[in-house]
Amino acid sequence: MKNEIPQHIGIIMDGNGRWAKKRMLPRVMGHRAGAQALDKLLKDASGLGVKYITVYAFSTENWKRSEDEIKGIMGLLREYINKYFDEMESLSLRIRSIGDLSALSPELQADIARMKEVSKTRTGITLTIAMNYGGRDEIRRALTQIAKDCRKEVIHPEDITEQLISSYLDTSFLPDPELIIRTSGEWRTSNFLLWQGAYSEYYFTDVLWPDFNIDTLKEAIAWYQGKDRRFGGRNSK
Ligand code: FPP
Repeated sequence: MKNEIPQHIGIIMDGNGRWAKKRMLPRVMGHRAGAQALDKLLKDASGLGVKYITVYAFSTENWKRSEDEIKGIMGLLREYINKYFDEMESLSLRIRSIGDLSALSPELQADIARMKEVSKTRTGITLTIAMNYGGRDEIRRALTQIAKDCRKEVIHPEDITEQLISSYLDTSFLPDPELIIRTSGEWRTSNFLLWQGAYSEYYFTDVLWPDFNIDTLKEAIAWYQGKDRRFGGRNSK
């Protein structure tokens, strides 16, 4: 074993649509099964030692999907964020979000704000939900803010280090993920944690997201633990 348990795991929960199609169900039922899989995983993973889990729930590109599907995913997000409020207190789950929330419905925005506030002192896993999130959009928004702060002379162009850029990103409260998992046999980053994933290990599995569980998570972690991480250097850490 070369590495400890990863502190932060990013997950691209892909394959809900295909899972539903295989069962002749509407796509939204695949997303519902996906939300249930996440729910169960968070419960089962609470003792593993992973501190942060960041999931890609809705990308800046997902607005291209049908109105019905978008409505279905948004409804699930509200339902599950409220469920975390009611049921997940015993797990001590801390909820955060990344992405541009301003395009989401006022009701969903209010639920997210309430969950963040209520869960902020909890000490269990930090679940960060990426909603209306795209890595390029996040970097664009950070650059806009950096430019504004330069204009106001709060910072100066020579202050722009990698650390400073990280502190302007939505993920400023998170360490970079050591491991990023993508399910359903696709080998793409799809605009997820572009800056933060520079040195992440990417684990791709054919399992469709609704079928992902604690055993498949443990397989991914074991794979990660055996990796030689060189960060561009010659020797492992
Ligand atoms: C990708 O599968 C999945 C999504 C775009 C949505 C993920 C959303 C959830 C699991 C809902 C709830 C989330 C939380 C945080 C409670 P796909 O539709 O692209 O699948 P396909 O590639 O098989 O069509």
